[in-house]
Amino acid sequence: MQNITKHQHITRASGRCQTSYCHQPNNCHLWHRDSYPKLLSGVGKTINVYIALTEVNKFNGFEFIPNAKKDRNLSVKMTDPFSGNNFFEVTEKLAENSVPVILKPGQFVMFTDELIHRSVCNTSGQVRLSLTLRVTQPSVEVLPNYNPNYQQSVLL
Ligand SMILES: [Fe+2]
Repeated sequence: MQNITKHQHITRASGRCQTSYCHQPNNCHLWHRDSYPKLLSGVGKTINVYIALTEVNKFNGFEFIPNAKKDRNLSVKMTDPFSGNNFFEVTEKLAENSVPVILKPGQFVMFTDELIHRSVCNTSGQVRLSLTLRVTQPSVEVLPNYNPNYQQSVLL
């Protein structure tokens, strides 16, 4: 693991998320993996480190589906034209297994680019702030158009 990028998540109290794929209010409900074929090149694993800067709970954070392997046959609902990230159709039955992420400020979770997850609408009345670090193998190159605040990868 050598390359590292950072990505800030800000979800306003209105529920509007400001990530690359959340420019429209309702997009925060879309199930996806953090896989960005137009922003990363090469083959290798990516690990996300999601660090809560404010409290994360089931009313403002995100949820994931346990054991949703990459070979699970999910149909693609749409693709983010900027990142190439796919959004999936997830059945109600599968969504019933979702688990909310609960974190206090300063706590973090780690997950790979295989995890199916989605943001939930922020109905907490509080702004949610977090920082996501993405760590990849040296075989994965972070492309310069990763985000408007692109900075060179840090080699550890
Ligand atoms: Fe995500």
